[in-house]
Amino acid sequence: MKVNNPRFVTSAYSYKDFPEHNWLEIAFTGRSNVGKSSMINRLVNRKKLAKTSSQPGRTQSINFYNIDDRFFLVDLPGYGFARVPRKVKEEWGHLIEDYLTNRPNLVGIIQIVDARHKPTGDDIMMVNWLKETGLPTLVAATKVDKISRGQRHKQEKLIRETLALTPEMEFVFFSATTGEGRERVSSFILGLLDHA
Ligand code: GTP
Ligand code: MG
Repeated sequence: MKVNNPRFVTSAYSYKDFPEHNWLEIAFTGRSNVGKSSMINRLVNRKKLAKTSSQPGRTQSINFYNIDDRFFLVDLPGYGFARVPRKVKEEWGHLIEDYLTNRPNLVGIIQIVDARHKPTGDDIMMVNWLKETGLPTLVAATKVDKISRGQRHKQEKLIRETLALTPEMEFVFFSATTGEGRERVSSFILGLLDHA
């Protein structure tokens, strides 16, 4: 996927802020700090389009990116960050739910998990919910640069089993650092656009 002119459009703190347009959207879900924003940057080959941070809870709004006037990538706030006050967590939950259930432009999800770890209870909840929505979902296990080749098979099995992935849910290893998996994620996105 060659990208020429990706641009930030808006940050939404409630559904009223969601931009109105006719482009299709692909959204990124996953735990806080798992690497959602870094994946977006790697996909469009821009270092700083989406803000990244080593501190969890960085993205607190839904951020919309227009990719070459072809489609939108949507960066959702991460879930599961313990140090965020409960009230704020509830607001994020509502915001994410509003987006995932009421957004006509949305055609697919890239659910990100950490390649090094067993998916958390929050990951399981999120994936179960995605199954219910019926949205096409790609599970991307990121930060794979941090595990050895020998560990991959075991980690993939652990992730697939813990999330009880259905046969329709694809799985890919990814690394924002090395770029591994970029083509697979790109073709998932382009496939969604073709079939919508
Ligand atoms: P929130 O916005 O807080 O929900 O986080 P996020 O999911 O957007 O994570 P972000 O992309 O900000 O990355 C969090 C940290 O993980 C940063 O320090 C990144 O540099 C690092 N990181 C992200 N992806 C990778 C990867 O593939 N490999 C390695 N080694 N580090 C990564
Ligand atoms: Mg982020």
